[in-house]
Amino acid sequence: STSSPRSNASAEFVVVANRLPVDLERTADGTQRWTQSPGGLVSALEPFLRSRKGAWVGWPGVPDVEVDEFSDDGLVLHPVTLTSDEVRDYYEGFSNATLWPLYHDVVARPVFDRGWWESYVRVNRRFAEASAAVAGKGATVWVQDYQLQLVPTMLRELRPDLRIGFFLHIPFPPVELFMQLPWRAEIVRGLIGADLVGFHRPGGAQNFLWLARQLIGLEPSRGSVGVRSRPGMVQVGDRTVRVGAFPISIDAAGLDSLARSKPVQERAAQIRHELGDPKTVLLGVDRLDYTKGIDLRLQAFHELLQEGRVKPEDVAFVQLATPSRERVEHYQQMRTEIEQIVGRINGEFGRVGHPAVHYLHQSVNRSELAAFFSAADVMVVTPLRDGMNLVCKEYVACRHDLGGALVLSEFAGAAAELSSAFLVNPHDLDGVKNALEQAITLDPAEGRRRMRALRRQVLTHDVDRWARSFLEALGTEAAA
Ligand code: ADP
Ligand code: F6P
Repeated sequence: STSSPRSNASAEFVVVANRLPVDLERTADGTQRWTQSPGGLVSALEPFLRSRKGAWVGWPGVPDVEVDEFSDDGLVLHPVTLTSDEVRDYYEGFSNATLWPLYHDVVARPVFDRGWWESYVRVNRRFAEASAAVAGKGATVWVQDYQLQLVPTMLRELRPDLRIGFFLHIPFPPVELFMQLPWRAEIVRGLIGADLVGFHRPGGAQNFLWLARQLIGLEPSRGSVGVRSRPGMVQVGDRTVRVGAFPISIDAAGLDSLARSKPVQERAAQIRHELGDPKTVLLGVDRLDYTKGIDLRLQAFHELLQEGRVKPEDVAFVQLATPSRERVEHYQQMRTEIEQIVGRINGEFGRVGHPAVHYLHQSVNRSELAAFFSAADVMVVTPLRDGMNLVCKEYVACRHDLGGALVLSEFAGAAAELSSAFLVNPHDLDGVKNALEQAITLDPAEGRRRMRALRRQVLTHDVDRWARSFLEALGTEAAA
């Protein structure tokens, strides 16, 4: 539903993110179409922003294209162009081979490359300039995620009249790990340009406050940071910067009603049938990322089959894995590993027409996803580290029937909220296997009790509440 370009240099509410909510896809025959961008940031922010008729500044997802601003269902999209060198150095390089592994507990080794850093600075400046050109006088600009950590200060220099918020969608690491970064002080200085710096968890906010003292000599408040309350404070000249914790969430009501709809319920039944009507359907849904622990959960499943604790004729494991960052080496390695494990399990335990693992390296649409969630008896979410993880919340939102069980890593931000899940340490393979077995053999009454508790949390803490609590702490009219 896109319309022709129109000028908008006076937006009152602007989101700035590496990606636009839609991705330009160029097919082999040269045609183009827009599809929804991958990842949790877009899943969370898009429904919220559409209801506000704001502006969104971001990259259209392919290198070297110049696209005019356009409006999409009331949302004005302002594309920022990246060259293919910038995609390599700023996006695949500094963002996803330096910051991403560093911030996820160094589960892969971060690469520190000076050329990548220079590209990161240059691209952040371009985003700051684009945002400055779009925002009206006194507007609120909400900068998103680790790709744009220098934008708050750059934007403040260009436009001191703006109210600037920043939210980090991934974990903020322990200070010992952050200190590895050669450009650590520059990053902290970049973020401190915001009026409010938000993290998922209080621990992230506290780490940031410590670094502000240690690296740039500021004097932050000392009290502990609460969830959506008691933000930390830092005085920067005549400005007070707040630093707080705001756990992100999903459009829970929207997903709940989608999952209740007849087409989704019918499709869920059909999926189970297509899988051969097994006793138990296990499901994993992730971007194909080495932080998600897809390999670990498959290994746990493999061992349960080998030990005879799970019978191949009783179960089907479905793993949906969205293609992601496919030119980055660690992602290529992880894909190869996952595909080898899938091959090995199916080689040993599959029968003709009945593989043990159904692996789709594909994205599916929202209704199809809701049908998979509705069809799954056991949802398996085992990241080694995850800022929040929305998939587990989406699963819960789809289970109005109080069916299903959630196996969830302690190292996902969501674990702090979803204590009625089967919580596991993904590094402890025996623990994961035991939790899977417990979830597979769960007594239905106990399952309903757990799911009721999970749903109470997810349905009352949705993405709207997240955004409103952030914008209230930022002190803007946009919260109204
Ligand atoms: P991340 O932001 O790291 O990708 P999240 O769990 O926070 O992780 O968000 C992932 C989002 O992408 C969720 O909204 C999820 O439903 C969606 N998603 C993940 N895998 C798929 C898939 N194969 N098909 C469709 N959507 C997917
Ligand atoms: O917060 C997670 C996140 O990195 C988002 O910033 C990003 O848009 C999404 O996952 C998907 O990753 P990418 O944009 O690199 O495809």
